[in-house]
Parts: sequence; C-alpha cells; structure tokens
Amino acid sequence: MSSEPAPVAEATPPEQSLEPPVKAASSGEAPEHRALVLTGFGGYEKVKVQTRRSGSPGPGELSVRVRACGLNFADVMMRQGLYDRLPSLPFCPGMECAGTVCTVGEEVRDRQVGDKVMILARTGLWQEVVNVPAVHTFLMPEGMSFEEAAALPVNYITAYMILFDFGNLRPNQSVLIHMAAGGVGTAAIQLCKTVENVTIFGTASASKHDSLKESGVAHPIDYRTMDYVEEVRKISPKGVDIVMDPLGGSDTSKAFHLLKPMGKVITYGVANLITGQKKNLMTMAKTWWNQFSINAIQLLHHNKAVCGYDLGNMDEEYELITGVVLKLINLYNEGKIKPKIDSVWSFDQVSLN
Ligand SMILES: NC(=O)c1ccc[n+]([C@@H]2O[C@H](COP(=O)([O-])OP(=O)(O)OC[C@H]3O[C@@H](n4cnc5c(N)ncnc54)[C@H](OP(=O)(O)O)[C@@H]3O)[C@@H](O)[C@H]2O)c1
Repeated sequence: MSSEPAPVAEATPPEQSLEPPVKAASSGEAPEHRALVLTGFGGYEKVKVQTRRSGSPGPGELSVRVRACGLNFADVMMRQGLYDRLPSLPFCPGMECAGTVCTVGEEVRDRQVGDKVMILARTGLWQEVVNVPAVHTFLMPEGMSFEEAAALPVNYITAYMILFDFGNLRPNQSVLIHMAAGGVGTAAIQLCKTVENVTIFGTASASKHDSLKESGVAHPIDYRTMDYVEEVRKISPKGVDIVMDPLGGSDTSKAFHLLKPMGKVITYGVANLITGQKKNLMTMAKTWWNQFSINAIQLLHHNKAVCGYDLGNMDEEYELITGVVLKLINLYNEGKIKPKIDSVWSFDQVSLN
C-alpha cells in the first residue's frame, strides 16, 4: 500500500495501437492477455500475473484495451479477505481502470472504437483487456491521462457524494477529513476548495503535513502522536459540521461527538481493520466491539445525522453515478480537481511471482 494518493498500475506500454495485446491464438480462440489475479487471501504474494482470454463483448458491452488501473484501499481489504460479496477465488480484483475501446458489442449506441474511457466495476479490472457493460464506462475528457482517469472514479465519486449529496457542504462550514493524504482524502480536499471559505481539518502522518497545507488543509493533525479530538476542539470548541469517517470502530463515535448541532458524520470505511499485510483477528474483534450504535430517539435529541456510504453497493445505480461523473468532468475541465498520481507500477512489478 502506498502512503500517497492513488497509485496506479500500467497494464500495457503507452503505445497508441487500439489492438488488444495478443499472444498467438489458435483459430477461433480469443487471444490471451495478462491479468493480475488474487490466488488466495493474505499478503502481497497472493497477487499473481496470469493469462486469460476474454472473447467478444456481449450485447450492451464493450471490449476495452486497458492502459492503467487504479489501486484502492478496498483492494487491500479484498486481498486480505475483508470485503463482502467477493467472487470465489481465484479472481481478478480491480475496481477502476482506463483504456481505449477496441470492440463495441451489439446494442451499444453511445460508444465507438477508439473512445478513451474510464471504467468503474466491483472487481475484475486489473487486466490488459476487459469486457464491461457500456453503462460502467465514462468518456475521458480531452487532456486527461490514462493514469489520471484510472485514479478518478472511486476516489472522486466517493468524496463528491459524501460531501455534497449526504454532507450538503455549504460556504463557511468545517470538515474533518481522515486519511487526508490518501486517494479519497485528496479528492475531498480539492472538492472542499470548490466551496467558499470551508475550513478543513485533516488527519495524516506528520511527513505529509506540508503537502496538505499547500492543498488547502488549514489544520493538519498527526493522529499518530496527538489526540485529534482534542486538537479539533482547541481550534473549534463547538466541533465541525461534517466528519468523513473511513476508520470505523471507536472513531465513528468520536466523529459523532465532534459534530456541531445539525452536523453530519458520513461513515464509509473500516480502515481500523487493517494493521498489517494480513488479517488480524484481535484487531477485527476490537473494531467490531467498538462499533458505534445509536437509536432513533437518541439521534433526535442530538440534532445530528449519521449516514453510511458504499459505492461498491451502487453497481446498479448507473444514472446516479453517471450524473456525478459528469459533474466531476466539468470540475476537471475547469481545473478545479486533478487526481494526484503517487507512482506507476507495471503488472510484473506488482506481482511477486
Ligand atoms: N465506501 C466507499 O464507497 C469507499 C470508497 C473509497 C474508499 N473508501 C474507504 O476510504 C478510506 C480511504 O481509502 P483510500 O483509497 O483513499 O486510502 P489510501 O489512498 O490507500 O490511503 C492510505 C493512507 O491512509 C492512512 N491510513 C489511516 N489509517 C490507516 C490504516 N489503518 N491502514 C493503512 N493506512 C491508513 C495512511 O496515511 P497516514 O499515515 O498519513 O495516515 C495511508 O498512507 C478506506 O477506509 C476505504 O475503504 C470507501
């Protein structure tokens, strides 16, 4: 896992051919391409490069030659077996990627060969060629690189919907962003900056504070050496308007109590489950034991909202998600958001075969 935002894997060298990378195929057989495959739950060694055949796209589908894939925190959780609704092993992970359309299936009217697209799916995108429903693809804007496009969907859709759909972020409000230097955190900071006079508190390791300040975080907090609740209260005794909670466990309760009246905590992850390369049963038990719960009457008395967000459970909500992506593309074109790429790795470097 990277300590910086949005690492991406490069599926194929950046030449411009629209043909999928092929290994000689016998007649009638689909050509082979490479895929990163999760062969078991556990550490990095469980991810292997293997070859696959994808065949022709079905009705409503596109075949896309993938040029870059995004790596998300959720992929790390998946590798450890800490994610729900996973396909049976072995399977190809990968929730986002970008590439060029090489074949258009029947019934697809709004995509053509050569279109550059970014793709969002629950799994299966860490491959050189993918067949995906056209409704899971979004046209890339002019000037966007494949690496940027592979780092945009998960991070920016998540941050946008949390801040604006659930959070209803408005001018002069304050937001606490945890994991502020990560992919979603970086997206959230850029999106907060599109609203006038928003005060951003961000937790991250100290080495990232200068970069966070440059990005617009007024109050970076080193949660590893400080009590972030105390630090926020020193600056803003009444608390904040919105807490983005990707941590879970006892941090959701802290988030709730840090809210001003009419404040909102949006919980969208359980990063506290991760303490190393492999799943840790003690950590899991502690995190679930400390899980926040509240009943409707208590909520009513507090004048606060608790929301839950999971992009992975919106795979059927094409129109909703497409609407968000169009807004994000407008913001990209206006120069207001831009994915930050930490590093680019080839498939061979990712796998320890
Ligand atoms: N619900 C959804 O739809 C959705 C969608 C996307 C992401 N998420 C969630 O959002 C969170 C952030 O995801 P991301 O992809 O932005 O993360 P990321 O880019 O992988 O960020 C990793 C950084 O987070 C910090 N961190 C804090 N606690 C950590 C922990 N227990 N283990 C490892 N790193 C930790 C570390 O930075 P510091 O050392 O600076 O703290 C680390 O470098 C995750 O909980 C993820 O599951 C949810």
